[in-house]
Amino acid sequence: AKAPVLPYRVGHGFDLHRLAEGYKLIIGGIDIPHTKGCEAHSDGDVLLHTVTDAILGALCLPDIGQLFPDTDPKWKGARSDIFLKEAVRLMDEKGYVLGNLDCTIIAQKPKLSPHKESIRNNLSALLSADPSVVNIKAKTHEKVDSIGEERSIGCHAVVMLIRKDL
Ligand code: CDP
Ligand code: ZN
Repeated sequence: AKAPVLPYRVGHGFDLHRLAEGYKLIIGGIDIPHTKGCEAHSDGDVLLHTVTDAILGALCLPDIGQLFPDTDPKWKGARSDIFLKEAVRLMDEKGYVLGNLDCTIIAQKPKLSPHKESIRNNLSALLSADPSVVNIKAKTHEKVDSIGEERSIGCHAVVMLIRKDL
């Protein structure tokens, strides 16, 4: 059967990175002062990876790791906005615009509330979206498990895309 062209599409994203000394902490393209940063092949931006996967998921496309394999030296140290911009390009090509995006960053430390507005504004700009449709939440992990023990940072996101020709 031919797949119907849906007026709305929902996507979910999740990512987690180990925290280690000697790495910069970059969340949503913003440099956050901290003693540790996310270990990764790219710049380790856990939020941009999550949002990229949420958009790709909504479009039923291969995930970020398939599109940009971490075995490819091309992506070593790459800025994660490259990945997000490609997801946004694919979204546009498939005929969708961002309806809204809701993200939850899970970090025991550092406190992210002072950075939420700059993260939101930068992420909105990368998405060519109004900040009013982009939401950033932060949670601790109540000091338990790897996130709570400050050994990792996690992130979840949900997006809704709307067909442009609606
Ligand atoms: O109180 P509840 O268990 O819901 O949340 P929490 O994990 O104790 O975090 C309390 C508040 O701190 C959150 O609502 C966030 O606004 C803020 N927070 C933050 O700014 N940065 C973090 N890394 C974690 C939490
Ligand atoms: Zn990642």
